[in-house]
Amino acid sequence: MQRIVVLNPKGGSGKTTIASNLAACYAVHGERPALMDLDPQGSSMRWLRKRPNEEPAIHGIAAFEKSATVTRSWQMRIPPECRTVIIDTPAAVDAHALPDLTRAVDAVLVPVMPSDIDIHATAKCIADLLLVAKIRRSERRIGIIANRVRPNTRVSQSLTRFLHSLDIPLIATLRDTQNYVRSAEIGVGVCEMPRWQVQQDLPQWQAILSWLAVKRRVTVPSVDSAVRVASIERPSSEPNRTQVAPLAGLTSTADRELDVSA
Ligand SMILES: Nc1ncnc2c1ncn2[C@@H]1O[C@H](COP(=O)(O)OP(=O)(O)OP(=O)(O)O)[C@@H](O)[C@H]1O
Ligand SMILES: [Mg+2]
Repeated sequence: MQRIVVLNPKGGSGKTTIASNLAACYAVHGERPALMDLDPQGSSMRWLRKRPNEEPAIHGIAAFEKSATVTRSWQMRIPPECRTVIIDTPAAVDAHALPDLTRAVDAVLVPVMPSDIDIHATAKCIADLLLVAKIRRSERRIGIIANRVRPNTRVSQSLTRFLHSLDIPLIATLRDTQNYVRSAEIGVGVCEMPRWQVQQDLPQWQAILSWLAVKRRVTVPSVDSAVRVASIERPSSEPNRTQVAPLAGLTSTADRELDVSA
């Protein structure tokens, strides 16, 4: 099973947007992914609840919830058919939580927005991943996603300079577009929206999938073919529609279960 965590303690950097869109990308390729939400705000689970029934299934795990009716390990159970789990994390995660959050994961995606405040916060996040979580650059597990980028702005240039200085791969640049706002509203990923609407965005998702596929040595799912399927199924005219709870325990070696109980 491939485990992907999306994190950046800076609020609003795009964690939920990326986690949910990534889950949609895998879902349209027939992999039933699991989307685990560690954020008490529950934004990923809210997105999933809005997801139309006719869209390919994504298994949701509301890891932030404390359930009195089921055991923690049942709540965290990942169905055997899920080959990928994507973990959405809250803002303001403490640096000391990072080792537990990243220990058992194959990929750590760090979204960063082009603003001085976000760049500064992300520099600290990367430093903590390297020094506190002790991820070595040579593992190539960390990938940065520049988010909400408007090309040729002064701040996008300082983001580019910052990313070059890090020696951590920039795996994709997502533009600032209402497609993501719409995607959040209707419970689908941009790869499930009509092609004409998202054609500028798809190559970026392809880049993310390719980077992730190298890690698990699989054929890269094509976002393009997914969009074709999604477009055929719908009329093309409408858009188709802090405190981290328990972090310790992402260390489970059981492939089918992530036990995040404290
Ligand atoms: N590329 C983008 N273009 C336009 N809007 C975007 C983009 N990425 C994210 N957004 C919007 O920015 C807002 C914050 O994004 P999101 O909720 O994904 O961030 P977050 O890091 O999960 O926030 P939090 O730290 O609060 O959990 C949302 O309204 C989302 O729709
Ligand atoms: Mg979020």
